[in-house]
Amino acid sequence: MAPVEKFNPEKMTALSFKRGRQRAGRSGRHVAIREITLEEVRRDAQEFGLVTDIYMELKSGKEASVFLALWKEYPIVLKAFRLWQSSQTRKKRGFFAPAKMEMLAAKEYDVLMAAFQAGVPVPTPIGRVGNYLTMRFIGDGFTPAPRLNEVELADPEIVLDQILSDYLKLYRDAHYTHGDLSPFNLLWWRDRAWFIDFPQAKLVNPWADMRTVVEILSADIENVIKHFRKFGIERDCDEIVSDFLKSYIPKNQVHFLEF
Ligand SMILES: Nc1ncnc2c1ncn2[C@@H]1O[C@H](COP(=O)(O)OP(=O)(O)O)[C@@H](O)[C@H]1O
Ligand SMILES: [Mg+2]
Repeated sequence: MAPVEKFNPEKMTALSFKRGRQRAGRSGRHVAIREITLEEVRRDAQEFGLVTDIYMELKSGKEASVFLALWKEYPIVLKAFRLWQSSQTRKKRGFFAPAKMEMLAAKEYDVLMAAFQAGVPVPTPIGRVGNYLTMRFIGDGFTPAPRLNEVELADPEIVLDQILSDYLKLYRDAHYTHGDLSPFNLLWWRDRAWFIDFPQAKLVNPWADMRTVVEILSADIENVIKHFRKFGIERDCDEIVSDFLKSYIPKNQVHFLEF
């Protein structure tokens, strides 16, 4: 069974679509979405050759579950994009949910690869099949690295500068904004903050809406400097965003502020 069909076990045919429409009165878009179990994730990920086993679940969020998995004796991370069963997900995401989950996994893989190639500290992507993605495990032994909000830093100012310069690399060299940057999506490992969790990332290309780009950069950077304000460090968010824009704007958009 293809991975995406798991979310849509009662596969639609033209006839069942029509019947569903007749039954529901208005729309034939109702589709059974159910949660996938750990056993299914394990079986799929093994079948797809992404992992040899799953060790434990690290976190289950709104859109994805993250597992500490094994490739032979080595720890790796498996991220499975999937849906919670709820009337809301049914209504909002409807019939196209499986395609969206696969798209998010592909997107996260691409961003991780671009960020890695630009020299941003991210978990190196390993593989992606359907809505599953594997990447390097950030941590020691089988203990995952803590999030930035959980650690006490000896020299927070140096860490803040490093994070901002790594984010600049992501933006200037890989042309991506993160879109969900916060101390929860930065892992503290080997004296460095590692960027994770990229499904909100956006490519800043000639077709990008630069006003939205500015909003995203501002929100991300503000989330980071807000955390460091607790240690008495003050930074001007607008100034940092303006430095980012000076370092890169798609050529056709350099005058976007004048419109
Ligand atoms: N490569 C990784 N190495 C170690 N831990 C990770 C890795 N990726 C994710 N995690 C852990 O899993 C949690 C959730 O991952 P994340 O990608 O942020 O998903 P979510 O969308 O659910 O927030 C992270 O906060 C982190 O603790
Ligand atoms: Mg996260």
